[in-house]
Amino acid sequence: MNSEKKLHNCYWIYKVMDNTAVTTQQPSPGGQTPPKQLHSSGPVSVRNATESTEDREFLGRVVIDGFEGKYIHATNRESLPAMQTMFANHMRGRPPLFYERHFIAEYNGEKAGAIVLRYHGDSELFPGREEDLPPVGCCNTCGIILLEMAVPTDNPPGKCLIDMICVDTKFRGKGIGKVLLDMAEMDAKKRGCKEIFLWVSSTNRAKHLYERQGYTYKNKRTLCCCGMWCGTGEREIVRMEKVLE
Ligand SMILES: CC(C)(COP(=O)(O)OP(=O)(O)OC[C@H]1O[C@@H](n2cnc3c(N)ncnc32)[C@H](O)[C@@H]1OP(=O)(O)O)[C@@H](O)C(=O)NCCC(=O)NCCS
Repeated sequence: MNSEKKLHNCYWIYKVMDNTAVTTQQPSPGGQTPPKQLHSSGPVSVRNATESTEDREFLGRVVIDGFEGKYIHATNRESLPAMQTMFANHMRGRPPLFYERHFIAEYNGEKAGAIVLRYHGDSELFPGREEDLPPVGCCNTCGIILLEMAVPTDNPPGKCLIDMICVDTKFRGKGIGKVLLDMAEMDAKKRGCKEIFLWVSSTNRAKHLYERQGYTYKNKRTLCCCGMWCGTGEREIVRMEKVLE
């Protein structure tokens, strides 16, 4: 299905929910930080992830690389390949709706980044599975469980949570993160949400990107000892949100 909409004076040409490419506001070819010029077509396209081995392995790699610090804190550097396998396993054998929550950005046809969205009720629809956990020993398994518990994923009706956004290091600064956020907003609106939000570490410079996209700061979570610090290695995370018009 092809649709065309005018939004903030930029045309978004997109195809939805059938695993075909999505093109939103684009950075100039070559990339700029922040992108100064936006085109209605360009090097970045976004599509739903599939259950294919290539997509699952890419997601495992880009997510674990993007959040390497947290996974090393939860386990250790040697366990990172096992963490990638865990993420790829977690993408296997899910219902179609699950893949609609995962988007892959491609830059000139090469997989470059990903965004994972969550809506109300998703935790029940897509529960964690014991069989996805890799054999990394008791302490590391505890670390993984603590990490899962420390990151808030509760999600009230009418709100879309950006669970993860990450771009391969070699593609950063080219505007792909911005296009992924545009895509997330479009998906959230389509599903009737009035707000989109995310949690970000107070020290993560990605905050600037979210501010530029119109997100504002809401409540903070500060936990020392057995909570966020144990789980993620972060001392403080901030909720940023944007009202969708
Ligand atoms: C955050 C991220 C998805 C942005 O993707 P991107 O394609 O580089 O983003 P864009 O080119 O559209 O915008 C550039 C902005 O991204 C952010 N960014 C760039 N490199 C970053 C990095 N290594 N870590 C965190 N944020 C980064 C900055 O806000 C940058 O703007 P600035 O240069 O004015 O500070 C990407 O950098 C990434 O994967 N980081 C690691 C994972 C992460 O921290 N995710 C966010 C968790 S809430």
